[in-house]
Amino acid sequence: MQVTFSTAALPKTGAIIIPVFEDGKKSKAYQDINGKTDGALDRAIKAAGYKPKKGQFLEIISPAGIGNGRVLLIGAGATKDFSALDAEALGGRVIARLQTSREKIAVFALDGLSAKKIDAGELAARVAHGARMRSYRFDKYRTIVEKDDKPALTKIAVHSSAGAKAAFTPHEKIGDGVFLTRDLVSEPANVLYPDSFAKRCQKLVELGVKVKVLGVPEMKKLGMGSLLGVGQGSEKPSRLVAMEWMGGKKGDAPVALVGKGVTFDTGGISLKPGPGMGDMKWDMGGAGAVTGAMAALAGRKAKANVVGVIGLVENMPDGKAQRPGDVVKSMSGQTIEILNTDAEGRLVLADALWWTQEIYKPETVIDLATLTGAILVALAHEFGGMFTKDDALAKQLIAAGEATGDKLWRMPLTKNHDDMIKSDIADMQNIGGKGAGSSSAAAFLGRFVKDTVSWAHLDIAGMAWNEKDTPTIPKGGSGYGVRLLDEFVRANFEG
Ligand code: BES
Ligand code: MN
Ligand code: ZN
Repeated sequence: MQVTFSTAALPKTGAIIIPVFEDGKKSKAYQDINGKTDGALDRAIKAAGYKPKKGQFLEIISPAGIGNGRVLLIGAGATKDFSALDAEALGGRVIARLQTSREKIAVFALDGLSAKKIDAGELAARVAHGARMRSYRFDKYRTIVEKDDKPALTKIAVHSSAGAKAAFTPHEKIGDGVFLTRDLVSEPANVLYPDSFAKRCQKLVELGVKVKVLGVPEMKKLGMGSLLGVGQGSEKPSRLVAMEWMGGKKGDAPVALVGKGVTFDTGGISLKPGPGMGDMKWDMGGAGAVTGAMAALAGRKAKANVVGVIGLVENMPDGKAQRPGDVVKSMSGQTIEILNTDAEGRLVLADALWWTQEIYKPETVIDLATLTGAILVALAHEFGGMFTKDDALAKQLIAAGEATGDKLWRMPLTKNHDDMIKSDIADMQNIGGKGAGSSSAAAFLGRFVKDTVSWAHLDIAGMAWNEKDTPTIPKGGSGYGVRLLDEFVRANFEG
């Protein structure tokens, strides 16, 4: 989708989109078009009894006086509670409505848009961003697309104040990161496996990111028995990828983002049931979010030092696969009794977290993982689950979630949860007892984080994949986490 900005008069064709507020004040664009069409907009509002509630459309097709396009009024609700996220939703809803209409250009006439504490340029940029976010499609494997399903719409033209174009630039880069994550999450596991994932990470070099890839022999040498145990039943060799963006002060400790990248999770010998197993292609959603966030940060040249580390494995049942009851030794030296091979994400993160701390000495570590089904029981698809002992860090992450719409809810993490993973024969076991499965998983990860590090674990099992469309996210890979991490870095680490 091409996005352009203009301060010139509205064009004569295409779909012209005009936001309308409940307060009754009509924008210049509204008055202009209403005049040119001999009052068609006023008449349509009256005839339809139209109330401009948030997201409510009124479409006036081909009114005399403005060529053969259409005018699309969209409700914006009350000015006093219109937010940047509302602006994004507005843009997204318009694209959802027009994408497979016959219109080629969506012209947003935004001179009337206003909100508390956000300047008009930024607001217009957020409309464009939301529109672009909703335009995403993953069509690469379709050889047949019905004509009615083909998007004719290829351009978004935003007419607004002068500041909008510049305000859009960072959002465009962040959007590129979101799209990268959606692509990764959407790819089937026969295409995206540890090595091919690592190769896609290498593309970030073009953005100025330094990329390191560790293979199985190197990880063996480092003693990563926990991560390697998960991958040993697969034909696809495991990988560990580190992506460095050092845009901050030289010598400043980096923020570390660590992601679970299980490119397919069958459960291993503790095999998952068949129905729905296909969903486990997106069990690399944490790694996908970290990769997209690194692309976003590098793309907008963030003034911060950030390193993204992802553990890439495929969890398969096989003659070589690890068994329930096996004991493995992690890079940290701690031993783990594997009681369920389906609790594999934590095993991957254990070594990825430890390696990250040894190599980069970060003061802040955030890990993201589609870690437990239990987090869906608690939070469904509304929030990612956040586990941390650091109240200040919790506050920063919650704020980043609220600002971007990648929402988080804090979950408990206590000594009792840690007690749940005591093993009879090793330092710990990889599952807890009954209940609190997301918290005992977090406690497991906590054993691989040094006391001096400020750490949060984000369980995004309910967020990586959208079962249905939302205003700015079409059904499928959501890209959750990219905007959250970008905003977290921007607000707290860029001076
Ligand atoms: N990848 C799954 C978690 C998951 C489940 C993500 C559903 C998205 C949707 C994870 O590896 C897993 O299998 N977890 C087990 C842990 C259990 C064996 C302690 C689970 O949640 O059932
Ligand atoms: Mn699993
Ligand atoms: Zn998994």
